[in-house]
Amino acid sequence: EEPRVAPAGTAPAPDDTLFAQILDPANRANPYPLLARLRERPVARQRDGRYAVSTHAEIRSLLFDPRLSSEDLPPSRRPHTGHVLKDWILNPIKDRVATAHRPLIFRDPPAHDALRHLVMQQFTVRRVRGTHDRVTAVVDALIERCRGRDRVCLVEDLSYPLPVAVICELLGVPEADEPQFQAWATQLSTALEPDARRDEDTRRANVASFDAIADYMKRLIAEKRRRPTDDMLSGLANHADPATPKMGDFDLISTAILLLVAGHETTVNLITNGMLTLLRHPLELERLRRDPERAPRVIEELLRYEPPVHFRTRKALGDIAIAGETIPKGAAVMLVLAAASRDPACFPDPDTFDPDRADNQHFGFGGGLHYCVGAPLARIEVEIALVRLCQRLVRPCLARDPPPYRPGAALRGPASLEITIDGIL
Ligand code: HEM
Repeated sequence: EEPRVAPAGTAPAPDDTLFAQILDPANRANPYPLLARLRERPVARQRDGRYAVSTHAEIRSLLFDPRLSSEDLPPSRRPHTGHVLKDWILNPIKDRVATAHRPLIFRDPPAHDALRHLVMQQFTVRRVRGTHDRVTAVVDALIERCRGRDRVCLVEDLSYPLPVAVICELLGVPEADEPQFQAWATQLSTALEPDARRDEDTRRANVASFDAIADYMKRLIAEKRRRPTDDMLSGLANHADPATPKMGDFDLISTAILLLVAGHETTVNLITNGMLTLLRHPLELERLRRDPERAPRVIEELLRYEPPVHFRTRKALGDIAIAGETIPKGAAVMLVLAAASRDPACFPDPDTFDPDRADNQHFGFGGGLHYCVGAPLARIEVEIALVRLCQRLVRPCLARDPPPYRPGAALRGPASLEITIDGIL
């Protein structure tokens, strides 16, 4: 058969629907071939006017570029509720009125920096390192509960309950309230998806969860003011600016919710993606089991190879000339972190899972101003979970590959991961 050759002088039209295809749940299990096609044009205007940025050099430059805003994002078509905090959940990418009360991940300098500084002060080395024994105890207790069974349902048995237990303890949420927190965190993390606000049921469920958690936090903050204890919420509540008590309360509630949401679904996905990847690479699983010192390398490579956060949205505050394109002022810019972390210009053999790779400058925790504040905590949780799972599960095997995925494209991860086992050590 004759090879099909395009007539001279006509380049194939670029596919300006690639980002829409990435959002399509049908492509959730393996979006990487689409990410590779996206990288063919580092800065690609999509049919809907959004710009997708997918290469390492371009993303790095934009993560540090003050002309990209996390705050003044393109408007959605949703009406306001008149309640500033509720509007943040419903319209996280709109609403100038609510801007002042949004959590720091949706703020620009100087407000972002001031809020971030207060949060960072609470993430002390002592406090974060101090979670080590508790994380080990929680992980071992969760694994122990699976004794006598022939399979572990990783998401519900371990990945989900662990991060919520850890963040509740750090924040100072009583243990008895943890199950409730888990439900709120799960629901609210859907608000981070670009299309979440278009779905009426999701919106309504988010409002209900939001009202409940904001109310709960208000009461807990009052309690921490009356009787401070050694936890992050007590620290934050008693640092609030007394000149603007109302502002302080709004920011406190949205910060507490952010810590819960940002630290939950992401960590769940890294643990689950971690076991999925190790079970697909049994040699690496065995090496980690024998030599837990490999864990930091394995985790950095997981953050590159199967990251929980695939993309973040920003807005161009001015025209930005980059990679032969000009992103116009006002455009939505999708920073496809997961595509950059597999950019062959930066990572030799990018589609190979190789914990021994040198100079692994992935974007698993983002970069620049908004670099993840929970990264040291997440690394501890995921390290202990993966090492203990590898050491204690006897002959673990995937029951189903690929596993079913949750619908989210920005926060991407399996809905469940069944692992058959021959026992527990
Ligand atoms: C920001 C990933 C765990 C709290 C971020 C960003 C990423 C990320 C990619 C950058 C967002 C952007 O540029 O817009 C992850 C992953 C985690 C994880 C993959 C787990 C494996 C945590 C934990 C916490 C946390 C455990 C807190 C308890 C935050 C906060 C921000 C953030 C507060 C916003 C920082 C800012 O805007 O300055 N995270 N995260 N994260 N993360 Fe994490």
